[in-house]
Amino acid sequence: MTNLVTGATGTVGREIVRELLERGHAVRALTRDPAAADLPAGAEAVRGDLSDPDSLGAALKGVTALHLITFDGPYYTPLETGPRIVALAREAGVRRITVLHGGGPTPLEDAVRAGGVDWTVLVPVEFMANALEWADPVRTADEIAEPFTDRLSAMVHEGDIGAVAAVALTEDGHAGQQYVITGPEALTIRDKTDIIAAARGRAIRLVELSEEAAIARWRAAGHPQDVIDFLLSVYRDTPPEGRTVSGTVERVTGRPARTFAQWARDHADAFRAGGTT
Ligand SMILES: NC(=O)c1ccc[n+]([C@@H]2O[C@H](COP(=O)([O-])OP(=O)(O)OC[C@H]3O[C@@H](n4cnc5c(N)ncnc54)[C@H](OP(=O)(O)O)[C@@H]3O)[C@@H](O)[C@H]2O)c1
Repeated sequence: MTNLVTGATGTVGREIVRELLERGHAVRALTRDPAAADLPAGAEAVRGDLSDPDSLGAALKGVTALHLITFDGPYYTPLETGPRIVALAREAGVRRITVLHGGGPTPLEDAVRAGGVDWTVLVPVEFMANALEWADPVRTADEIAEPFTDRLSAMVHEGDIGAVAAVALTEDGHAGQQYVITGPEALTIRDKTDIIAAARGRAIRLVELSEEAAIARWRAAGHPQDVIDFLLSVYRDTPPEGRTVSGTVERVTGRPARTFAQWARDHADAFRAGGTT
């Protein structure tokens, strides 16, 4: 019984790998570059590229449960190879697939839903880990600059996405489910600033950015226009599921969802002068 995790070197995939190992399951971790993967001890790194399904033969051998991402590369280009990946998984004997929803419909998720293998779609809201983008300006200038600072978000600890995925991959009762995964509370950027300040033990100034300044910053960071449009629409008018506590983490894992205060304590060093992310 082996679990194959794709996106295993990413924010969510790493947590799925860690959760599966902690629960005593065998884990194979897919990466395009095993030498750089730096995976936890106990995970078997295997080379493969989801945009080239023929590269997945060795990775899929003996796998009974598979976690999939929907995209290719750093700009989250939707993968078109879903039908072939799912067919190969079925042939290899995969019985359960979880898929990390890509923020909207994607060909890969469609292929998983239609592929004849038990599936669970994981729909996390905003990751708490996104706050690491603030580590640099907080460390160097004690400052966070963002637009829409009173916007509410029920963001989720990435470890809790990992825990829900690990349960869905290894236990019965989750087939055909689409799980919206949130944290235990909805907070504003103002709240999050105060919580990080308390965790690092030093005040942080919050600067309200205009929409135009935010767009300029996203452009300078190299975000393509469709990503900027997505960010703007979610920031201007966060959909109800993005700001409503779902209770999925506790229902699926039996443990309460972790708070942002806990996340901030876990990462406090990243926000202290001399710390690293
Ligand atoms: N950030 C948020 O708030 C948020 C909220 C909800 C949903 N999401 C969704 O979450 C997803 C991003 O997840 P993440 O943040 O965990 O990703 P991430 O940290 O950006 O990591 C990307 C991962 O994808 C792998 N990868 C990329 N292209 C690949 C390919 N062609 N073949 C095999 N592996 C490939 C990389 O593996 P290697 O480089 O090791 O090969 C890496 O492990 C997106 O679909 C996004 O829409 C994000």
